[in-house]
Amino acid sequence: MSRSAHPAGPRHADVLTEGHYSGPPADLNALDPKVWAQTVERDEHGVLAVGGIDVKRLAEEFGTPAYFLDEEDFRARARAWRTAFGDDADVFYAGKAFLSRAVVRWLHEEGLNLDVCSGGELATALSAGMPAERIAFHGNNKSPGEIRRAVEAGVGRIVLDSFQEIVRVAHIAQELGTRQRVQIRITVGVEAHTHEFIATAHEDQKFGIPLAGGQAAEAVRRALKLDGLELIGIHSHIGSQIFDMSGFEVAAHRVVGLLKDIRDEHGVELPEIDLGGGLGIAYTSDDDPREPYEIAKSLTEIVTRECEAARLATPRISVEPGRAVVGPTAFTLYEVGTVKQLDGLRTYVSVDGGMSDNIRTALYDAEYSVSLVSRGSDAEPMLCRVVGKHCESGDIVVKDAYLPGDLAPGDLLAVPATGAYCRSMASNYNHVLRPPVVAVRDGEARVIVRRETEEDLLRLDVG
Ligand code: LLP
Repeated sequence: MSRSAHPAGPRHADVLTEGHYSGPPADLNALDPKVWAQTVERDEHGVLAVGGIDVKRLAEEFGTPAYFLDEEDFRARARAWRTAFGDDADVFYAGKAFLSRAVVRWLHEEGLNLDVCSGGELATALSAGMPAERIAFHGNNKSPGEIRRAVEAGVGRIVLDSFQEIVRVAHIAQELGTRQRVQIRITVGVEAHTHEFIATAHEDQKFGIPLAGGQAAEAVRRALKLDGLELIGIHSHIGSQIFDMSGFEVAAHRVVGLLKDIRDEHGVELPEIDLGGGLGIAYTSDDDPREPYEIAKSLTEIVTRECEAARLATPRISVEPGRAVVGPTAFTLYEVGTVKQLDGLRTYVSVDGGMSDNIRTALYDAEYSVSLVSRGSDAEPMLCRVVGKHCESGDIVVKDAYLPGDLAPGDLLAVPATGAYCRSMASNYNHVLRPPVVAVRDGEARVIVRRETEEDLLRLDVG
């Protein structure tokens, strides 16, 4: 990312966070299509609309803070993945990014499969009618109860993550008188260029079984011996919010290498490989994400080439995008409560949500964009920090943002690209109520996850 080392903003420039500065945008009212959902636009007064409905109306009807999700955009992105990979591959949407029953139905309709990683996600998927055989079950410590439920439901695959789990799943499947289709998740030893907490293919971490040192080969040996398991493939997920394709290519190369070793040792050609999710999206104008067809082309080419060289039949490829499907499709709408100018220091703009609806800034130092969306403004840009309402100084929504200098309480701000890992990682910190998710399409808005209420909180509090 290119950012000036010597910030010189119009106000309080001396206290800019190092490395988070790219200067005021030429036009604060402009909407960069890279970071906003497809149907977002401004009217002649500068009021933002999504799916044909303006944010003032949305705020009045649904309150703030709230996530507004562009259903058309979600479906278009899901379709783009489906089309990019074609009929010889499978796309599993990673439900951890954001899951609700409406989302499950959209995925089903658009021909995607679903990756779940907990009993809760599995229950959501099944209750919305996703056929079990189109569900993959993940996780580094699935409980015996979760495994039993998944096997009973007939999920299409369980992705095994440890030696203990190989035995556990085999026993449960046998007890239930069935053979469970499984993949083994391996770590291929790639250092993905992303935040440490979301990189998952280097060896020193909790996910998967290392390829290095022969552990993955040993896992395959054990799985092939167990009657309760049908080993259908190898899985690799290298991390998340990745822009550099080379990590995926190295992973594909190493997974195919293992398939070849398996063929040589056991005389078995595993029919599938899964190369995980992880494609990055634009949170700010500095980010340049790749398109699904680019990743499809590059992965398909490398797998085909390597398999030809190893004289293996090309396995069926699957991928698991989460963020790249849902991330750009939603924005969070907040109302400004206070604007506090600390002379010579910084301007703090407080909104009515914060780290309980978006923990990513605090957790990963994530960068976001933010815009005034309830009106246009020609005022001079003001450098400020957008913060939440929680009892914590680290409760930051956008660290360094340019907003119009006439910003005032009651204005509405929108933070784009909050469709992934925001509602799904939301908390009740300070007993703040989790916001609703509202799907907007063709002039109609519909709550798909309702706002939490104080009754919801009190219902759980049974002391
Ligand atoms: N498949 C597996 C096995 C995964 O663990 C993940 C994400 C995905 C697919 C989907 O990855 P995506 O395409 O969404 O990057 N909370 C973090 C992200 C954690 C990702 C965990 N696994 C964040 O907010 O950035």
